[in-house]
Amino acid sequence: MADSEQCAVTLAITGASGAALGRCALAMLAADARVRRVDLVVSAHARRVAREELGLGEDVAGPDFPLRLLGAGAAGAAKIVSHDPANIGASIASGSYPTAGMVVAPCSMGTLAAIAHGLSDNLIERAADVCLKERRPLLLAARETPLSLVHLRNMVAATEAGARIFPVIPAFYDRAADLQASLRQFVARMLAHLGLPQEGAFHWQG
Ligand SMILES: Cc1cc2nc3c(=O)[nH]c(=O)nc-3n(C[C@H](O)[C@H](O)[C@H](O)COP(=O)(O)O)c2cc1C
Repeated sequence: MADSEQCAVTLAITGASGAALGRCALAMLAADARVRRVDLVVSAHARRVAREELGLGEDVAGPDFPLRLLGAGAAGAAKIVSHDPANIGASIASGSYPTAGMVVAPCSMGTLAAIAHGLSDNLIERAADVCLKERRPLLLAARETPLSLVHLRNMVAATEAGARIFPVIPAFYDRAADLQASLRQFVARMLAHLGLPQEGAFHWQG
C-alpha cells in the first residue's frame, strides 16, 4: 500500500496460548500511522487465557477489557473499535466493508478448524470467511504443540482456501534481545503481508 493511504485492519485474538502476541499485534497496529482503524474481536476464551498469562485481574468480561489489554496511555487507542464476537451483524461480517485484511493472533486450533471448514458461527469465523471469499489477506498465527493430524489437515485446508499460516515459532536468526523483541519481529513479518512493513524489523542481509 502507498504511504499516503490509510486502511482498516481486523485483528482477532483467540484462546490459544500467546495472549502477549495478541497484545503486541494490537499495539503495533494501533501505533501504525497507516492504519486508520483496528476492528478488534477478542473471543471469550482469549479473555480467560489473557487473565492466566498476562495477570490482568479477575474482571476480563467487561467492555473495557480490550483497552486494558493495550495498556493505559498506549498510542492509537482511539482507533480501536472493539466488537462482540457474538455480533454477527458487525461491519466486518460483510464483504462490502473494506479492510486490508485480517490477522488472527494467536489462533487456536478450534478457530483454525472453524475457519478451515467455513463454519462462520461467530464474528471471528465470519470475518475470516469474508476475507477468504473476498480474496483478502487472512493471516493465522496458529499456536499449539505438538500438532495432531487434525491440526495439520486444517492448516492445509485453510492454506488451500487462501489463508496464510504463521505458526507461532520465533525466529532465532534475528538474535532478539528478549521475548518482547521476538514477538515484535513475529508481528512485523505478519504485517508485511498486509503491505505494512515495519520500521526496525530485522531483515537478513546474507
Ligand atoms: C491457559 C490456556 C492455554 C491454551 N492454549 C491453547 C493453545 O496453545 N492452542 C489451542 O489451540 N488451544 C489452547 N487452549 C484451549 C482454547 O482456549 C480452547 O480450545 C478454546 O475453545 C478456543 O476457543 P476460541 O478459538 O473461540 O478462542 C488453551 C486454553 C487455556 C485455558
